[in-house]
Amino acid sequence: MAQPLLEISGLRTGFETHDGTVPAVDGVDLTVHAGKTLCVVGESGCGKSVTARSILRLVEEPGRIEAGTVTWHGDDEPFDVLSLDHDDERLQKLRGGDIGMIFQEPAASLLPLRSIGAQLIETIRNHTDLDKKAARERAIDLLQLVGIPKPHERVDAYPFQLSGGMCQRAMIAIALCADPSLLIADEPTTALDVTTQARILDLMRNLQERHHMAVMFITHDLGVVAELADEVAVMYLGRVVERAGVEELFADPKHPYTRALLESVPVLGRDRGRDLPTVPGTVPNPLHRPKGCSFHPRCRDAIAGRCDIDEPPEVVFDDGRTAECVLYDDREGAQA
Ligand SMILES: Nc1ncnc2c1ncn2[C@@H]1O[C@H](COP(=O)(O)OP(=O)(O)O)[C@@H](O)[C@H]1O
Ligand SMILES: [Mg+2]
Repeated sequence: MAQPLLEISGLRTGFETHDGTVPAVDGVDLTVHAGKTLCVVGESGCGKSVTARSILRLVEEPGRIEAGTVTWHGDDEPFDVLSLDHDDERLQKLRGGDIGMIFQEPAASLLPLRSIGAQLIETIRNHTDLDKKAARERAIDLLQLVGIPKPHERVDAYPFQLSGGMCQRAMIAIALCADPSLLIADEPTTALDVTTQARILDLMRNLQERHHMAVMFITHDLGVVAELADEVAVMYLGRVVERAGVEELFADPKHPYTRALLESVPVLGRDRGRDLPTVPGTVPNPLHRPKGCSFHPRCRDAIAGRCDIDEPPEVVFDDGRTAECVLYDDREGAQA
């Protein structure tokens, strides 16, 4: 079994609003193993991005990390990222160094008034001993690697001179600058056409093989999960409701939410011309989290008088996979 590289435990991140604190991340436990890919899936608004930003303590105002630990097992002594001082050099070393991050909104993370090259070179020089000339060479190589044509010219372009897809690729290049041990990629291919998307996914797989890089890949696309993941965590309304190896998850989804997500994936041949089922209803506003299991109002298998009252137990199966659902609770005498 691979070693844990990043362990998130009991993470809670909330946003202060006029109507109260929005519990965007509500007690998340996740582990990314060295050299492996963890895919985090779930509909929009489930807390995937806030979880990712919390790892590097990049949650924007009015958000606040309220509880939990984020343990980094790098080359040295493991430490809790959340308890470091703001000016601790280990935090700077993690951000853009040991951990590369691709944010969901490229516009928000590329500086508009600096060339792509300048931003790449700065990150490279912050995290390596390369001189300016060597850093520029590396910047051009990275642009080439992520599939930007004419990298010698584009290195001097400003973000507004590039298309959205190009900016996304430039951002991926920045995240890869320092050969990170962990790449956190938040829906990195959403803005890209399918050809470029396939190329980026190939690139990640290659890097993983060559550099033993771990990846935490956030997506709502189960096709991508099937292609990339070793392990999968399914999030719903700020919690991880199911966690399993990718094969086990697809072969035998336990949580009714996971089942509903999988049923909404088209199968080539079978689904031609057919309406695809979607998960009925929408993700509730986390401010108005339903009592009991937060999925029960949308759940086919909900048990009245139980799922609408009691919080579901976390059930751990023999092979270590987990599901937060009363259907598998031995104490309830239910069938697995
Ligand atoms: N700046 C903010 N202010 C208030 N609430 C926020 C803010 N950012 C995120 N949230 C809340 O956090 C929840 C999770 O957001 P997010 O992590 O972006 O979801 P996902 O990435 O899974 O689509 C959202 O439903 C929203 O209610
Ligand atoms: Mg998101």
